[in-house]
This record gives sequence, structure tokens and C-alpha cells, in this order.
Amino acid sequence: MAFKVLDKGIEIQLQSGKLMSGDGEDGGDWIEDPELGSVRAYFNFYWLRDNCPTSFDKSTRERSFDIFQLSQAPVPEDVTISDDYLTIKWLNEDHTSQYSFQMLRDYSAPKKRHDPVDELKPKLWLSDNFMNIKRYSLDELTKDNVELLEFVRAIFVDGAVIVNGMLENDLDNLVELLGHKTPCIFGTTFDVNLKQDPSNTAYTSGALELHTDMPAMENPPDVQFLHFMKNSTTGGTSLMADGISVAKQFQQQDPHGFKMLSETEIPYFCDHDDFDIRSKHTVIKLDSQGEVKGLSVSQHMLDKLDIDQKVLDLYYPALCRFGVMLRDEKFLMRYKMAAGECMVFDNHRMVHGRDAYVGESGERHLRGTYISYCELKSKYRSLNASILNSKCS
Ligand SMILES: [Fe+2]
Repeated sequence: MAFKVLDKGIEIQLQSGKLMSGDGEDGGDWIEDPELGSVRAYFNFYWLRDNCPTSFDKSTRERSFDIFQLSQAPVPEDVTISDDYLTIKWLNEDHTSQYSFQMLRDYSAPKKRHDPVDELKPKLWLSDNFMNIKRYSLDELTKDNVELLEFVRAIFVDGAVIVNGMLENDLDNLVELLGHKTPCIFGTTFDVNLKQDPSNTAYTSGALELHTDMPAMENPPDVQFLHFMKNSTTGGTSLMADGISVAKQFQQQDPHGFKMLSETEIPYFCDHDDFDIRSKHTVIKLDSQGEVKGLSVSQHMLDKLDIDQKVLDLYYPALCRFGVMLRDEKFLMRYKMAAGECMVFDNHRMVHGRDAYVGESGERHLRGTYISYCELKSKYRSLNASILNSKCS
């Protein structure tokens, strides 16, 4: 006997590679030995009814079954079990469900569904990283899904990658390989060059301090693309540091400062003639496990701090100590991008900026856009699945 029908669910014995078959109920010898792959698993009847394989539309792949329309709680009229399947005929319904061993095994204990994205852990880096940044050609990314998968993986793991071989209007072509652009107040794409009446420090020839983009937004953009279309001016050296590397060292050296910067939300703003964006963020952002996941830092978008001035006695010195550490030569990567290259980087992780440049000394024109983690993760999962499937077939 391999199952036991209870009031609200069923207990089933799962063995390694199969269900424990039997055509009766209760009273048998239950063998529970996880080391041998034999476990007793409980499944709720609502869960079973709602997740009958027929509940999902073959075309949309979404659930089309409506459990809210059941007139009473789902209860089996008959249960049978084989090595491979659990079969339930439901009481008061003209419906029979069949569940595979694999599905039952996958859900026999509460755990998050397997997600290949969870395996992408940040690999931290220091100032000497520029030559190690992975390079991809747009042409190869367009033709080769394995290359595209590696490219997306590198964005999550390394935090910054370079795409070369980009012609003037290729930014759209690159983003379209991955998903859709995330808009901000400056549009779905933005051009970084000298502008009359600039609405952002980036649109001047002045130095741009290390920052993450748009912390004034409630959800700052996730991944940034900066396509260097022209870059021939004197000066304008690009700057970048791995914010997670810096924050982790800050945590070790200055735990009190780290606590303030990771717990105290401060205001950011982006305010001009026809927009007024405001939001609050902590400078150091932690995940649910308390691990550093990124930063929100921008002096040019930092609003006047509206927190208790007595708190600022401690907060401001901590913020300055962190700002100084961001610029430490140990972390700060300096580089000059060639025209036709695009830096793609995690906007929550990579603080970036530039030295001032001489406007009339040449041409400097960058085109930028953003994409969400959600789009990139979706692309990573679907590419990963299709490549795995093609290997299996
Ligand atoms: Fe920026």
C-alpha cells in the first residue's frame, strides 16, 4: 500500500525514481528512508485539483482552470497509483487527473522552483579589471544564441561587458536581442553630448562623479547600455567601480557606517522645467539575506537630506567615508572606450562617471538606454531552456 487518503489531502510514498505502486489504501508498511530516496509526501487536494495537467492551456501555457467555480472542496472519489502516476477521479466532477512521479517529486517539499538565474552569483572585481571585461561582437550575438546566453550570464556575474562592432543606430538592434527598453524621464534612449540648457550634468563637459543612474526614480533602471558613437575629445576618461566590492570592504572596515548607509533612506531628486521626480533609497541596498546587492548613489541627484540633523552628525561623515572609498585607486577602473563599442553594465552595481573633457577638442557622443532585470532574466531562462532542449534532441 502506497498512499493514505486524509481529510484534506493525500499521503504518498515516493521512492527513488517512482511512486510506490499499490491499488489499495492505508494499513501497509510505510518505509521512510530519505537516504534511499524513499519519502512520505503530503499533497493538499486543492493543490492537486488546481494543478491537474489539464488545468493549463496548451497554447497560452497559462492556467485556464478556475478553482473558484468549484461548488465544494475537491475530494477524490477514487485513487489509484502506479509506478509512474497518481490518478484521482474527483467526487462530484466528471474529471480525472493524472500526476507524474516527477511532478510529485518536484513538489514533495516546500522549495522554490528551480531557476537557472539563481546560479548567477556576482564575481567581484577591482581596478585592474578593464582588460578582463568580456567582449562580444554584435554580429556574433545576433547569429549565435549560445554566445547571447553567455553575454547575459556575464552581465549578471561580471556586472559589465563590452559589445563591439556597433554601427551608429545599432543600439536598438542590440537591445532587441534581449527584450524591451525601460524608459526614464529622458526617454527610451538618451543621447549624452554637449547640450544647450542641459537638464543633467551628463549633458555638460564637466566631470561626472561616480554614481548610479536615476536614484530619483522609485525603481531606478536595472541594466544600462552606453554606446560610444563618438569619443575623440581630450579628457573624458570613463570611470567605473564595482559597488558591491566597495560596499563589502566598507562593511568590514566601517560596520557602523555600513549600518547607517544600508538602513537609512535618503532623498533623491530630478527636477527641471517639466518634470519633478523624487524618491528615497538607502545608499547600500541589501537582499533578504542581508547581502549587499547594489547601491543607489548620486551626488548630482541627492536632494537636501530631510532626516534628523542630529542623525546627520553621524550619517554625513559615514556617507563621505564611503564616497572616498568608491574613488580609492584599489577599486577605480579608468578606461577609454573606442567609437563603436558599447558598455553594458548593472546600474545598481557599477558606479560610473567620467573626467571632464574639452568640448571643442573633438567629438563625444554616447547613446544610452536601459533594460530591466526582469527582461534579462526572462531571456536567460528561455535561452538556457532552448539550448538545453536542442542538446537533448
Ligand atoms: Fe550615468
